[in-house]
Amino acid sequence: MDSNGWHAETERIGLRTFDARDLSLFLEYRNDEEIARLQGWETPYTVDEAYEFFEDLANIPPGTPGEWHQFAIVDKATGATVGDVGLHVRAADPSTADVGYTIARRYQRHGYASEAVGAIIEYAFDVVGVRTIFANALAENEASRGVAERAGMALDKQWLTNDGAELVRYSIVN
Ligand SMILES: CC(C)(COP(=O)(O)OP(=O)(O)OC[C@H]1O[C@@H](n2cnc3c(N)ncnc32)[C@H](O)[C@@H]1OP(=O)(O)O)[C@@H](O)C(=O)NCCC(=O)NCCS
Repeated sequence: MDSNGWHAETERIGLRTFDARDLSLFLEYRNDEEIARLQGWETPYTVDEAYEFFEDLANIPPGTPGEWHQFAIVDKATGATVGDVGLHVRAADPSTADVGYTIARRYQRHGYASEAVGAIIEYAFDVVGVRTIFANALAENEASRGVAERAGMALDKQWLTNDGAELVRYSIVN
C-alpha cells in the first residue's frame, strides 16, 4: 500500500480496501434489484450486514488465499467511490485468482470497471504473484463481458449450470 492508502492506482482511480466510508454507495448498489439479479445476491441488504462485512474485510489482507478482498474504486479527482473490484486468490492453487466487479448504476459506462480490473490484474500479477486470473459472468451480461475483454482477458469456457443458466469464463495469464 502506498502513503495515500492505494493498493493500486491509475491516473484517474485509486483502489483501497473497502470500508465504512463506502457505506452509502455500498447500500445503494447492494439494494439495486437489477445488479442483485446479475450478481446473484439477496436483497434487502442492511446497514448491520454492511458493518459486519467491513469488519471482516479489515482482518483479511489482500491476497489471502481462500478469501475475497474487496477494493473500493475511488475517483481521485472527486474523492467519490464509484464501485468495487474484488480479488480472490484460490486456496487450492494460490497461483490462480478470480476477479469480480460492480459499479453503481449512476457511475456506469464511464470506463471505471475496465480500468479497475486492469489495475487489479497488474496488482495480482506483480504484487501478489498470481499467474492466472479468471472472471465468470452470465453469458447474457454484455457489460461484464465487455469489461473482461477491455481488460485484456480472453473467453476460455462457456457452459450451462444444472439450473439452466448459461455462464462464460474469461482468463488472462501472466
Ligand atoms: C459490469 C459493470 C461492472 C460494468 O461497469 P462499467 O464501469 O459501466 O464498465 P465500463 O464502462 O468499463 O465498460 C466497458 C465495456 O463494457 C461494455 N458495456 C458496459 N456497459 C454495458 C452495457 N450496459 N451494455 C452493453 N455493454 C456494456 C462496453 O463494451 C464497454 O465499453 P464501451 O463503453 O467502450 O462501449 C456494471 O455494468 C455493473 O456493475 N453491472 C452489474 C454487476 C455485474 O454484472 N457485475 C459483473 C458480474 S460478473
